[in-house]
Amino acid sequence: MEDIPHLDRLQRILSSAGVASRRAAEQMILDRRVSVNGKIVDQLGSKADPIADEIRVDGKLIRPQHPRYVMLNKPDGYITTMEDERGRPTVMQLVESKERIYPVGRLDRDTEGLLLLTNDGLVAHRIMHPSFELQKEYEVLTPAMPHPDKLAKLRAGVRVDGKKVVPEEARIQRESAKGVVLRITIHEGMTHIVRKMMSALEIPVLALRRTRIGPLTMSGLPVGSYRDLRPGEIASLFEALKIDAVEDDSAATSTGGRKR
Ligand code: URA
Repeated sequence: MEDIPHLDRLQRILSSAGVASRRAAEQMILDRRVSVNGKIVDQLGSKADPIADEIRVDGKLIRPQHPRYVMLNKPDGYITTMEDERGRPTVMQLVESKERIYPVGRLDRDTEGLLLLTNDGLVAHRIMHPSFELQKEYEVLTPAMPHPDKLAKLRAGVRVDGKKVVPEEARIQRESAKGVVLRITIHEGMTHIVRKMMSALEIPVLALRRTRIGPLTMSGLPVGSYRDLRPGEIASLFEALKIDAVEDDSAATSTGGRKR
């Protein structure tokens, strides 16, 4: 999943991670104890991206004191940003959180399905980074059965933005009155990747839905609803991302709902 910027003031990121109060965090910055992507930052107005940037204090990677991992079944029509200057509905309007959580990667406005939100930059980073090879599974609704040659080309790999993307799986999932559903599993995350692959093969996309990220599926979660990951889901996600066990179990207190 390609990253989207969530820039915030460094002292605010440190205080929301529970590292220190805002005032004490400012002092840490002035004392040159804070680095962003390997560079010391000593200016108080500096901003960083808590999801994409590697933020360290005294060389230690910051992790949230109260980690939260939420899965949302994103409806069509919502954009994946924290806010939108054009006033369009954003995924943040669908989820309530005391913690400042951020969407991990992006789903297009007209894509439905599984979106994770978290305040844990390490987890977000590893989900998005292709080197961890976390599979993402999509269902593509297309009006008619694609020609077998096109399916063969899809399975052999499609060039997207100069990179050949070979799906782990690409197959016909089912046929319905609305059309044919293809299931595609990939671990790359360039923006619009599935739509670009389909467009390169001239396979029209009527609807797109993400159904799985690594070990996580949304089974039973209605469109527009969200819930915290269960302890077992967090454990399998961490295992898939090669992250050592959760340090505390505060993320396991389950809350969820539907904010529409
Ligand atoms: N690929 C796309 O084309 N769109 C998405 O929203 C996700 C993956």
